[in-house]
Amino acid sequence: MTLQNKLTVQALEWTGRSLKVLDQRQLPDRCVYDEYSDAAGVTEAIASMRVRGAPAIGIAAAYGVALSVNQHYAGVSDGWRQKVLADIELLAKSRPTAVNLFWALDTMKAVLAQQSDQPFDAVLACAKKIHADDIAANHTMGELGADIIAGAKGVLTHCNTGSLATGGYGTALGVIRSAYQRGPLKVYAGETRPWLQGVRLTVWELAEDGIPVTLIADSAAAWLMKSGAIDWIIVGADRIAANGDTANKIGTYSLAVLAKQHGVKFMVVAPTTTIDWDMADGGQIEIEQRNPNELLPACYSKDGSLVSAWNPVFDVTPAELISAIVTERGVVLNPLEQGVGSLKML
Ligand code: MRU
Repeated sequence: MTLQNKLTVQALEWTGRSLKVLDQRQLPDRCVYDEYSDAAGVTEAIASMRVRGAPAIGIAAAYGVALSVNQHYAGVSDGWRQKVLADIELLAKSRPTAVNLFWALDTMKAVLAQQSDQPFDAVLACAKKIHADDIAANHTMGELGADIIAGAKGVLTHCNTGSLATGGYGTALGVIRSAYQRGPLKVYAGETRPWLQGVRLTVWELAEDGIPVTLIADSAAAWLMKSGAIDWIIVGADRIAANGDTANKIGTYSLAVLAKQHGVKFMVVAPTTTIDWDMADGGQIEIEQRNPNELLPACYSKDGSLVSAWNPVFDVTPAELISAIVTERGVVLNPLEQGVGSLKML
């Protein structure tokens, strides 16, 4: 059985009237699904990072809107629409950086705006389509990316961009899955401090698929590149500006700078739902700051401690450091020259 046909782990599962969310905070020790039947619950699941990864956040939010309609719809004359719009506002506040969240909510709003006798059926169909389209996009990007890295002996990835972060298969990890099916490939994953998506999620997910992977400390990346072991760094994205500047997990920018120094190529893999067409460059992307206590050992988080922490969880890699942006609509090589605008026309 090929990996494409095999079911990889699922971050999100629609049950018919509720959304099951795999609590990624507990992986790899425990595989626990929490079940949500309203938008407030889904908002909390996103904010607390039970579900994380740009496309998965967008998909979860879309199902959250469906749950809201299910909860509030009580006939055409009722004020249910206002309640659903309030839930959409709530969902929009769950995390700020991944544009997939806002794209999914806008898409759901557009469906809501169309008068329908069966609004729940209409929004649910839209959420399911967003989910299915994301999986299809990942498979397309997997093949396009694998074409580009053909012949590479080793790659390094960062954060988790796999089935856990998407509808399924993954973006950067989808390229790695597809490339691995074609021939031998040495895969390295950075641990991704401070939340450790690499250690806890990526190496677990790859091992579940039978793909060998070598974990490195984030601080070993330069030395790995210097050794000549990798030809490409392959990462996902939370938001890509029109000029190709890309926000992704903190540490991505450092890797891109190091890649330039060592002659390693740098690939961003993301569906077009991650492109913020109206944002001219990465300078305007809101970078999420999370609680310093995610970084600080407990002994320093007491009142009066002289030790604080700065905890931005994304950074922006300028287009000039990116060799290729791979989307389901096609590939932009050297985005510095033209940005990603050509993809909008397709
Ligand atoms: O804070 P997270 O875990 O949600 O951050 C995830 C990332 O930065 C991923 O690289 C990005 O969302 C792409 S996932 C396909």
